[in-house]
Amino acid sequence: MTSKLLLHVFILISVVPVLDAAFCHGSPKKTAQPNLIPIDTGVPRFIRSVPNGKLYEVGSGEDAFKIIHVYGTSYEMGYAQGQLIPNDTQRMVNAVWEYMEDQIAFHRSNTIVMSILRYSLDAALDLEELITKRFTNPKFFEEIRGISDAAHVDAKKLIRIHLIGELTKGSCSMLGAWGKAVPVADSLLQLRALDWAVDGPFKDFPQVTVYHPVNSTYGQDFANFGWTGWIGSITGMNSKQMAISEIGVSFPDETFGKESRIGVPFTNLLRDILQYDRTLDDAINRISNSKRTCDLILGVGDGKLPAFRSIEYSASVANFYDDMNMQPSAEWHPRIDNVVYYGMDWDCPSFNSVLAKQIQTYYGNITAEVVIRNIVSIVQTGNMQVAVYDLTQNIAYLSNAKATYESTGGKYAYERQYVKLDMGRLFSEKAPQLQP
Ligand SMILES: *[C@@H]1O[C@H](CO)[C@@H](O)[C@H](O)[C@H]1NC(C)=O
Ligand SMILES: *[C@@H]1O[C@H](CO)[C@@H](O)[C@H](O)[C@H]1NC(C)=O
Ligand SMILES: *[C@@H]1O[C@H](CO)[C@@H](O)[C@H](O)[C@H]1NC(C)=O
Repeated sequence: MTSKLLLHVFILISVVPVLDAAFCHGSPKKTAQPNLIPIDTGVPRFIRSVPNGKLYEVGSGEDAFKIIHVYGTSYEMGYAQGQLIPNDTQRMVNAVWEYMEDQIAFHRSNTIVMSILRYSLDAALDLEELITKRFTNPKFFEEIRGISDAAHVDAKKLIRIHLIGELTKGSCSMLGAWGKAVPVADSLLQLRALDWAVDGPFKDFPQVTVYHPVNSTYGQDFANFGWTGWIGSITGMNSKQMAISEIGVSFPDETFGKESRIGVPFTNLLRDILQYDRTLDDAINRISNSKRTCDLILGVGDGKLPAFRSIEYSASVANFYDDMNMQPSAEWHPRIDNVVYYGMDWDCPSFNSVLAKQIQTYYGNITAEVVIRNIVSIVQTGNMQVAVYDLTQNIAYLSNAKATYESTGGKYAYERQYVKLDMGRLFSEKAPQLQP
């Protein structure tokens, strides 16, 4: 198939309206248990440094994960990451690429997208890259080039693995809670629970990357909670007390309108919010004015106000919700004062009703500990990764799915040990001393 033909098919897909209004599948098990594992409060352990980067590890035993600090321009920050962990970067990129090929070969769904991808993953991804390039900040490609030069990985392959977000969006959960919902009235708590391919390679490469750009041209200090070598964002917090949440929507209603393949990949948009936006209004403007692609629910919190908004997101719409106008409005998704929440999907009574019940049970006493112990564990959401952000105290709690090299503990992030991250300290980490 030629690129031109592929382009036509992609454009065709972009105008296919949403036809079905079904409900999501599955539900939390009635036997779900609270997560009583104590939170790991150990400080990061220094491993090594390079001219523009420092590598730390945090967490205990097999549950430890990397914290990487990078400094400078986009290229320099990418180069530092590649230089600090070249081997893991190579392994990760190859593993994700293989995983994507397997997905295409064995994917059960028979959508048009999947049949094109099955025909030629290479061609489809090149095309997607071509289409999205003009909607992507050139600094993204500079950072890719830095990683590629230092870790000796193919830049093109590195770019392609970043398109997995648009290809296989997860079903996830989120919440924002403030005011009467929380014990400290002016505080803001936010949840990002990621339910995504735990059979894939990502779980073996958990990493928090803390960016310290040289000046505001390259953005502000922010932390990307993700995986080695993967520089898009789906989870993270910035030094302006802001954080992101995201849910892939597979069961929208008619209010979503159309999806599109052509536009800014959402993982780049979320990263730009962390890197460049200083206020909730900045993020709202960015989302409103972007060329959006697929159906999502986003969440953005700003601890300075404090305020949280969920966003009904598609090529057609960007609708912003707080606790007063939260949608969908249904018996299984009741409005709760000072809380905005979504369980797994848009039209998803089974998860939303359990999430609502847990929020109501702990109303007034919703803390990070309660979210970890009694909310996500009972809703059974966040199989791959869970982040709880205390945007007032500048603390984050992070848990990751069991890696293939791990022998102990539950399989899913929501049933494993969380690590406490003092984000204020991470953002003020000093650049490595230059060697004389
Ligand atoms: C990467 O792998 C090479 C070859 O196996 C090894 O010599 C080197 O020490 C490894 N580098 C790091 C940073 O682990
Ligand atoms: C930011 O840093 C870059 C690279 O060092 C430099 O070229 C640029 O002039 C700086 N911009 C500002 C506004 O300081
Ligand atoms: C509130 O939550 C904390 C844990 O964060 C717990 O120790 C305390 O007993 C709870 N208080 C009430 C009234 O539920």
